[in-house]
Amino acid sequence: MRPLVFLSGLLLCSLGGLAHHDGPDWPAEHFETGTWSPPHLLLGKSGNYNPGSIFINVRTNIETDTGQAPTIYDNDGEMIWQGVRRKTMDFKMQKLFGEDVITYWDGETNMLGYGYGRVHILDTSYKEIYVITLPDQGFVANDGKKRETYVDVHEHLITPKGNIIVSAINITQGDTSMRPEGYPGAWIIDCLFYEIDIKTNEILFGWSAYDHREFLPLERSKLDMGSNGEHGESQVKPWDAYHINSIQYTNHGYLVSVRYFFAALYLNFDGTKRWMLSGADDNEGDIQNDAHFAWQHDMRVFNETDDSMVITVFDNDVPVRDLTATHESTGVAVHVDLKNMTGTVFRHVNSHDHDPAEAKTQGSLQLLDYNNTAHMLASYGSFPKFREFDGDGNIVMMGQFGYSGHAQAYRTLKYPWHAIPHYPPVAVAKYLSKYTSDIYVYMSWNGCTEYDNWNIYSVSGFESTIDQGTLLDNHRRNGFETSASLRDPNAKFLIVEALQGDKSLRVSEVIEVPRAFEDKNEKSSRFLRQSLRGMN
Ligand SMILES: *[C@@H]1O[C@H](CO)[C@@H](O)[C@H](O)[C@H]1NC(C)=O
Ligand SMILES: *[C@@H]1O[C@H](CO)[C@@H](O)[C@H](O)[C@H]1NC(C)=O
Ligand SMILES: *[C@@H]1O[C@H](CO)[C@@H](O)[C@H](O)[C@H]1NC(C)=O
Ligand SMILES: *[C@@H]1O[C@H](CO)[C@@H](O)[C@H](O)[C@H]1NC(C)=O
Repeated sequence: MRPLVFLSGLLLCSLGGLAHHDGPDWPAEHFETGTWSPPHLLLGKSGNYNPGSIFINVRTNIETDTGQAPTIYDNDGEMIWQGVRRKTMDFKMQKLFGEDVITYWDGETNMLGYGYGRVHILDTSYKEIYVITLPDQGFVANDGKKRETYVDVHEHLITPKGNIIVSAINITQGDTSMRPEGYPGAWIIDCLFYEIDIKTNEILFGWSAYDHREFLPLERSKLDMGSNGEHGESQVKPWDAYHINSIQYTNHGYLVSVRYFFAALYLNFDGTKRWMLSGADDNEGDIQNDAHFAWQHDMRVFNETDDSMVITVFDNDVPVRDLTATHESTGVAVHVDLKNMTGTVFRHVNSHDHDPAEAKTQGSLQLLDYNNTAHMLASYGSFPKFREFDGDGNIVMMGQFGYSGHAQAYRTLKYPWHAIPHYPPVAVAKYLSKYTSDIYVYMSWNGCTEYDNWNIYSVSGFESTIDQGTLLDNHRRNGFETSASLRDPNAKFLIVEALQGDKSLRVSEVIEVPRAFEDKNEKSSRFLRQSLRGMN
């Protein structure tokens, strides 16, 4: 790893000096064929890595944030697809009725670290096939206002039955006087989840943490209410007692990550407790276990039988009330033996003290089935990096998408994504500069994973079809956007065609070749892009 890390350090320095952008000068890519602007993804590779595509929505602190669009990159850091530029989170691929779909949350986030929004489900042509909402169930928000839909940012998971599990919050009032800093009438964030039928948006099941204080007693929350109980004093500033951040369907119900209890809670389908596994040192769960985890995210279940299962956990291990503490965030896999009621750590992925990553907030851990070894992809939330570990715990890939403190991503995930868009490819023709007569053709097809070359045809007018055209050139695909110098300077109109080998997939609309250079002051972005390409 060391030579790679050194190399990326060099890259960072040289990139920093290249261009000035809004806010922190982590570079973004720019294209001639559209207004996409993905943050540059810096990748280091040192082994056999999972070939899947990288799904991420980068959040930045920039006021005019355009970076939060759901974005897919390939393993060379080239963008494959970018979706809407809205505040989106938790972008992933899932299966719905046996088909691959992409899903993401979109909505408003609040100062409490939660959100109110909806879930978008797109098919492999990027058509939106469902939008899931959570209508008002008598929810109270900290600002007292009503919303159209209440799906929270933390989880949306499609079940094998074609339902979707979503998280939600409600601000309620209760007695916390069993805590040293508590008092009656404290304002509390209740964490809830719902299972919703995707086809009808009908709510099939709902569950609330606050309603189950018999096994989630408030005195057990690891997050205090502040030394004077100031968290919880008002509706605007409620106490975050539970912080549920993942809900996984299981054979008998749900596995819920209760972040502020350091707990994995296994619920039956009726919402009663089956068992709880605790990552805290005092081991207050039902399972005797040697797995330590704290302030965790993203719990997932594998190989579940009635006797045992494997639970993977992203262990943030950074105390929420003391973000200055230095702890490395790691990934843990626990084998749970339900006959003996024991939990045993059998994998722990970390940096081995080299460049430790601290995820103060957010983060994910994904088990990747690859080449018969269980790779793990850890992403570090507020620390804008991710790492892929092989089955032996070696880092085989690492990525960075912003400067620490300026960029973050809730989860970063990898999937074998194959898509052909329902819309056609696009092209533009431009003079390279006002000093030359060279014309360039730029071609892209946002999200298409299945083409590898382009044909460029000259046609006589806007009404022409490709059959009436003259083939001018063929070009190998070069990343997201392919550029080619125009062979025939007399061509007036063009059509481009995306192909996989010899097979035509789709043609663009007719575009007009400009008569003269148009100065749009785009030279610097082109320079930056070409410089970045040159470095990869
Ligand atoms: C799969 O693993 C074997 C053994 O480690 C390795 O030689 C091979 O290159 C790997 N295949 C891929 C596609 O990475
Ligand atoms: C939300 O909390 C309020 C109290 O603030 C309560 O009246 C209401 O029933 C709760 N709603 C849900 C869905 O739990
Ligand atoms: C699940 O079980 C299979 C077969 O025993 C095993 O190869 C695999 O590693 C297990 N997965 C996990 C996550 O433990
Ligand atoms: C479970 O308990 C049984 C009986 O006490 C013991 O033989 C077995 O080794 C235990 N298994 C594990 C995985 O600890």
